[in-house]
This record gives sequence, structure tokens and C-alpha cells, in this order.
Amino acid sequence: MIIDMFESLIDESSPTVSNLANAASFLYNELTDISWVGFYILKNQTLYLGPFMGKPACLRIALGKGVCGTCAESKQIQIVPNVHKFPGHIACDSASNAEIVLPIIIDEKVVAVLDIDSASFNRFNDNDALLLQKVCEILQHKCSWSNLC
Ligand code: SME
Repeated sequence: MIIDMFESLIDESSPTVSNLANAASFLYNELTDISWVGFYILKNQTLYLGPFMGKPACLRIALGKGVCGTCAESKQIQIVPNVHKFPGHIACDSASNAEIVLPIIIDEKVVAVLDIDSASFNRFNDNDALLLQKVCEILQHKCSWSNLC
């Protein structure tokens, strides 16, 4: 099962940046119909670009801005069927039409978000959110989240 494969890929004794790089690659290759997968790390009210797969992306996003900033501020998973209808959506890749963003939370504080884009409208649903929540839980438990950037 994909989640077992993911769990075995994440190595607690390795640096978090290495694990996030493998996590982005794993999701990019295992999920279908995906154009971008990556992490933004929260520091001082700003999300900074972390390990990712796909085209180059925005280096920083202010808390509360875009889909990622909305997720980080609200601590709520964002499932966006059509990014062009999301107020304030930040278009890093003009090919992106749908997006899902999940928070990674330690001690009730958001430390990072997992962001996934697709060129297909309505690409993400509640099942994707459940699977990706498990991915985020594994990263929460197995990685260290202090001083990442
Ligand atoms: N679309 C995101 C920005 C990051 S890129 O999708 C990689 C947003 O609105 O926050």
C-alpha cells in the first residue's frame, strides 16, 4: 500500500530536508495527474519554498495569502477544484488548475504545508485529503521541525 511505502521511505535518523526531498519525489511519481508537489516551511509569518518536484515556484508566501497562506493561517486543509476562482490564488505555474494544501502541525502550531497542483480541474477530493493527511502525520512524527530555514 502506498502509505506503507511512504512510511518506510522516511528515515528518522536523516535530516528533515532529505526526507522532504524524497517525500516530494515519492508523491510526484506515485500520484497521477499531478504537476507540482512540494513543501513550504513557515518562519516568522512567511512560508518559504522547501523541497519540491516540478517547475520553479514562488520563493515566499505571506501567511494568509494564496491557497498555501490560507491553509497555514486557518490550519485547515484547502481543496481547490478551480484555482482561478480562489480569491488571491498565487499562480506559480500557469498550467495549474486545481490544488490541495495540507498543514503540518506540531504542538498546535503550523510548521509547514504540503502543496500539490494539477492541470486537471476537480483533481482532488476527500479521499486524497485522507491519504495526504496520513502522509503529513508520518512527517510530523518522524521529522524534526525546528530551524529548517
Ligand atoms: N498556488 C499556491 C502557490 C504555490 S504554487 O502552487 C507552487 C498558492 O496560491 O498559495
